[in-house]
Amino acid sequence: MAVVKDARVPLIAGNWKLNLDHLQAIAFVQKLAWSLKDAGHDFDGVEVAVFPPFTDLRSVQTLIGADRLPLGLGAQDVSQHDSGAFTGEISGAFLKALDCAYVIIGHSERRSLHSETDEVVAAKTAAAIKHKLVPVICVGETADDLEAHGPAAIPIAQLTAALAQVPQGSDIVVAYEPVWAIGSGQAATPEQAQTVASALRSVVAESLGADVAAATRILYGGSVKSANIAGFMRQSDIDGALVGGASLDVAEFSAIAQFPKHVGV
Ligand code: PGA
Repeated sequence: MAVVKDARVPLIAGNWKLNLDHLQAIAFVQKLAWSLKDAGHDFDGVEVAVFPPFTDLRSVQTLIGADRLPLGLGAQDVSQHDSGAFTGEISGAFLKALDCAYVIIGHSERRSLHSETDEVVAAKTAAAIKHKLVPVICVGETADDLEAHGPAAIPIAQLTAALAQVPQGSDIVVAYEPVWAIGSGQAATPEQAQTVASALRSVVAESLGADVAAATRILYGGSVKSANIAGFMRQSDIDGALVGGASLDVAEFSAIAQFPKHVGV
């Protein structure tokens, strides 16, 4: 498949997980915007997005709007339902009303700690698209899967399932996050990540067509830092990163977003 990496704007996405309340979020996003502007960040060349907890979204939306900050906003999860008797759930319509552009779906912590199956992930992906949110679909193998099946089999199966109800032509982002690399300090090698990212691009091509596959951004996630981002970004099928721990440190996250300065290509 012809892959035109230059046509895909890289995305550096900060998944805050269960960190920072709405007041801390405001201070953090202000500092992040200053830090990126100070560094002369090319916002058209590398998109930067934050994924705060639900209770922060309104505050961050207001800040981004008032100060016209060139930052993207996303949520960490969405309900598969639109409304009704679903205590604790948040619908895609609510997120869209807060100007969220993205929503993370099927993060390994949701799959393992909240028993989200491939079917739930597929339903949430469809709900996101229905509400015009770009799903950031997370897939990845555990250490046991890696030993039993190699790196690509589980991510391929998870992505195939997640795309089952996605209409042709949809805008999606895929995040390859090996479970063993998340929060462990032990990232995949860029070559490993590239092998899986390339296989995932083929899954997108089979499900949604070659044009969508060529345009889809595939992120790597799992212990990404400013010291290792360059190796990932040199790979032809890796178009950014989903960053957990390091996204909570303004200087570090800003340095990750500045990867073109140290990617050496
Ligand atoms: P990490 O988390 O960067 O802390 O490894 C990544 C993620 O869970 O998205």
